[in-house]
Amino acid sequence: MIMPIARLLIVSLILCCAGPLQAAPGPERPGQAGIASPHPLATRAGEEILRAGGNAFDAAVAVSAALAVVEPYGSGLGGGGFFLLHRAEDGHEVMVDARETAPAAAQRDMFVDEQGERIPGLSLDTVLAAGIPGLPAALVHLSREYGRLPLGSVLAPAIRYAEEGFEVYPRLLTGLERKRAELEASPASAAVFFPEGELPELGSRLRQQDLARTLRRLAEQGREGFYQGPVAEALVAAVQAEGGLWTLEDLAGYRIKEREPIVSRYREARIVSAPPPSSGGVVLATILNILEGYDLQAMPPDVATHLVIEAMRRGYRDRALYLGDPDFVDVPVARLIHPMYAAGLRASIRTDRALPSDWLPGIRAREDGPQTTHFSIIDADGNRAAVTQTLNFWFGSGIMAAGTGVLLNNEMDDFSARPGVPDGFGLVTGDGNAIEPGKRMLSSMTPTFVETPGGVAILGTPGGSRIISMVLLGVLARVDAQASAREMVTRRRFHHQYLPDLVVHEPGALDDAVVEGLRARGHQLEETGGDYGNLKVVTWDYEDNRVEAATDPRNEAGEALVY
Ligand code: GLY
Repeated sequence: MIMPIARLLIVSLILCCAGPLQAAPGPERPGQAGIASPHPLATRAGEEILRAGGNAFDAAVAVSAALAVVEPYGSGLGGGGFFLLHRAEDGHEVMVDARETAPAAAQRDMFVDEQGERIPGLSLDTVLAAGIPGLPAALVHLSREYGRLPLGSVLAPAIRYAEEGFEVYPRLLTGLERKRAELEASPASAAVFFPEGELPELGSRLRQQDLARTLRRLAEQGREGFYQGPVAEALVAAVQAEGGLWTLEDLAGYRIKEREPIVSRYREARIVSAPPPSSGGVVLATILNILEGYDLQAMPPDVATHLVIEAMRRGYRDRALYLGDPDFVDVPVARLIHPMYAAGLRASIRTDRALPSDWLPGIRAREDGPQTTHFSIIDADGNRAAVTQTLNFWFGSGIMAAGTGVLLNNEMDDFSARPGVPDGFGLVTGDGNAIEPGKRMLSSMTPTFVETPGGVAILGTPGGSRIISMVLLGVLARVDAQASAREMVTRRRFHHQYLPDLVVHEPGALDDAVVEGLRARGHQLEETGGDYGNLKVVTWDYEDNRVEAATDPRNEAGEALVY
């Protein structure tokens, strides 16, 4: 069942000596465009821009800004994100890193008390929770460097949605109910989301005039419209009024980073994904490299599932141990994504038994917020964008700066709050992700491209620490089973993140025989209360030169479109 050692070595040697990983050749262009996003108005904003002559990058700006308006619980101008891009004409691949940064006055232990304990809520529901936003800078950068249309044109749909309003829908109501206390504690948030002092009616119109004005300033003035002048002053005033740390210099000094994506190979596929400060691409590559040593399709399902779980355990351990902002810490990326390193990890995996996580040397992992949002786009020329963006937990901190319509994120919670302090297991949290001024907090957002000889898939999802395992299962479905976009988003999910040492799974994800097989190997299983995730996939299949777009059936609000 396990690949013989000799074959393994040959595969590893071929992989590590094969030179740069090139994209598989396909038809020249798809001739069709596809968009999958979590909200119909965002999808239509992208379509409007493509029909007006924009490319996938213009459409990405339009969809991103539209989501900031119509999905205020998932992302926004006050947050950040990662934009993974592929330009068709020259194959240029880049990730625009718009992750938030810690303000200059941030301190390593700002969220712990004298005993070293995390102070409840401080990194979640207060102005201290907010990092310096990156999304507005990314919208301007993408438009200027990669788009064809003026920024004002691509932001027009979002401005319209903010001004004219959109219909309140069930998931928005769910978010408002969950975060009601925090939103009501912020007068500006309360005025927007509870205009009559009550939850808005399903189907009523939600208008955001201040947000429309802020978007208009961005459209007219570029990054200065947000990071300097009245918007910046209002943001800093709101944060400082409640004892926060932001300054005008923090905002003026914010810069996006263009980063080289993580490129790895799984079987015959080339995988392009998010580099640090995302943990996604590295962990995905490690897990796939481990799985490369097995023929999962030829194995009984319980064995294959066990091996995927063991690979997840090891990949997620590395996340906790090694990853952080590469501008501040030395992340050993080349080693972590090398097939020979994975071969070492694979050597500790047995087919008949789970290895408890605390038998692996490591540290305690932190959870990321489960909200966030993702969309995928291809245009008729084959330009691609996979974009995951976030405020962290529902509506971020819930605090809105008066006069701006901008919700402050609570991304500071993604830093390690207690670096160096052993927890109940005697394990310590990683220094690599400790708070430092100007540093980006570690993320799990994993926008990804999968290139096989048969075509391309563009995918990603929200879901906190489960993002990486969801993208992994999508990649496995595509590469091992040639899954369509629809099949990729529909596939049932399971997850292991090293700590807690637990396999969580959706109802019905594992059949009785697999459950029995996993328990017999020592795995602890827990069914999630319901389904999770919101995968968005666009595929381009070369054989019939066909584009397919699919949104996760778990989120009825999403809309996929091909034209
Ligand atoms: N805040 C979620 C993430 O960045 O992974």
